[in-house]
Amino acid sequence: MTDLARAVAVATEARLHSYSPYSRFAVGAALKLKDRDVYVPGCNVENASFGGTICAERAAVVAAITQYGAVEFESITVVTETDPPAYPCAFCRGVLSEFAGPELAVYFATPEGVKITTTLGAILPHPFKLV
Ligand code: THU
Repeated sequence: MTDLARAVAVATEARLHSYSPYSRFAVGAALKLKDRDVYVPGCNVENASFGGTICAERAAVVAAITQYGAVEFESITVVTETDPPAYPCAFCRGVLSEFAGPELAVYFATPEGVKITTTLGAILPHPFKLV
């Protein structure tokens, strides 16, 4: 299995755990840690307030920090069932930019495989930074 196929498999499995009773739009993510053979899963977790909803990408970032103390990432793979796949929301792009530079690889996939390959720099050209 290639690295990319593994990332899609991890994100696809995470997507099965999606708690999305309001939108019924399930999202899974797999965040590859830098220099470690680890893909951290994340899924979207919705809330009745709507605003409290956590996207799959941010769930993966929080899990990576919580479980591994990792703040350096090589790629993120996002799985939805729409084709073409959905792009990550602006909040998630901003959260990724806290920890990753423009070179972060971003893959958009369906459970069948990767459909779009891009970078964080391409989808968020001017990230907000305080430092
Ligand atoms: N969602 C994500 O998980 N990631 C994104 O980048 C965009 C949106 C989720 C949030 C919500 O549960 C559902 O998709 C519909 O917006």
